[in-house]
Amino acid sequence: MNEYFKFYMPTKVCFGVGIAAEITEYVEGKNVLIVCDPFLYQSGAAKKIGDRLEGRHVAYFSEIEPNPCCESVDKAANAARQIKADCIIGMGGGSALDVSKITACLVTNEGSIYDYYAGGKRVLGERKAALICIPTTAGTGSEVTNVGVFTNQQTGIKMPFVTDAFWADYAVIDPELTYTLPPAVTAATGMDAFCHAIEAYWNKESQPMCDMLAMEAMRLILNHIKTAYDEPCNAEARSAMLQASLMAGVAFSQTRTTGIHAISFPLTSEFGASHGIACAITLPAFMKLSCEQRADKMKRLTAYLGYDCVESFAAAIERLMESMNMPVRLRQIGVKSSDLEHIAKVGLEASIIQLTPAVMNEETVCRLLKSIL
Ligand SMILES: [Fe+2]
Repeated sequence: MNEYFKFYMPTKVCFGVGIAAEITEYVEGKNVLIVCDPFLYQSGAAKKIGDRLEGRHVAYFSEIEPNPCCESVDKAANAARQIKADCIIGMGGGSALDVSKITACLVTNEGSIYDYYAGGKRVLGERKAALICIPTTAGTGSEVTNVGVFTNQQTGIKMPFVTDAFWADYAVIDPELTYTLPPAVTAATGMDAFCHAIEAYWNKESQPMCDMLAMEAMRLILNHIKTAYDEPCNAEARSAMLQASLMAGVAFSQTRTTGIHAISFPLTSEFGASHGIACAITLPAFMKLSCEQRADKMKRLTAYLGYDCVESFAAAIERLMESMNMPVRLRQIGVKSSDLEHIAKVGLEASIIQLTPAVMNEETVCRLLKSIL
């Protein structure tokens, strides 16, 4: 455990069933761009929020694909500049929230995202537009982190962008918005949140405040994910899952993630797995590996969650994933043994992989991947 740590999370959190209806209380500014997932625009859910902002100019941007690319970010930035947006509301899963964060910065920072990221030479200045994030999945925790993940279409590489300008002013978290999530999305995003929690917990940068949040997040997810999957409108399960993803988000916003997320990047950008699946698929294997440098801590966690040992904990996670029709082997998402070396190489390029509590090099990562092929 780190004896020296900092905890900084400036986003104001507002949580509650129906709280999204109070959006006017949080909006500052006259020109609002709502950046949302396409289906939230088509279903009218985003408009419901926008319609509450009487007296303000409200525009929408919804050309967002999963694992948003830099070109979509630039389009969103242009839409924001066109209306001189002074408030950006991100609404949706991680992709929409990540795009809303960078859009809020690019309104007053000229140029393209490529100027500031993935080898760009300019430094992103202060964010002047207000930023509100409304998650509609219980998973990414993006509403309470200073991270955005974007795919560089020029190289095909998906990489995180970290800056203090990405902390939202408000995270408005309303469980009701998750009732319509399809079961497969509930499973994948919920397991993503579980990965955030466990990666914050075993992280080389772990710290007591995050440990506490991460442990509770894991307990809530294990107790409620299957109910949320089976009964989408179960209010208790939905609320617990959203609280868990919030806590896990705050935890990993301080520590960052580890090997699970590093390896997920090539699994998503090159094999098309959703973010949650790309993370969860290596989770049981990383759990076993984490004992290499975190044996005592993992022992405490397994006892807290009611398992005998890490092996039975990992096996239970695998069974839980199977019960929600999630793949548990790499070949199920189209990976062949000839791909493993490349996946390991790309994963090792993400610096977060070295926050894993085990030796991470081409040999150890290939061995881990082989064990779950
Ligand atoms: Fe994630």
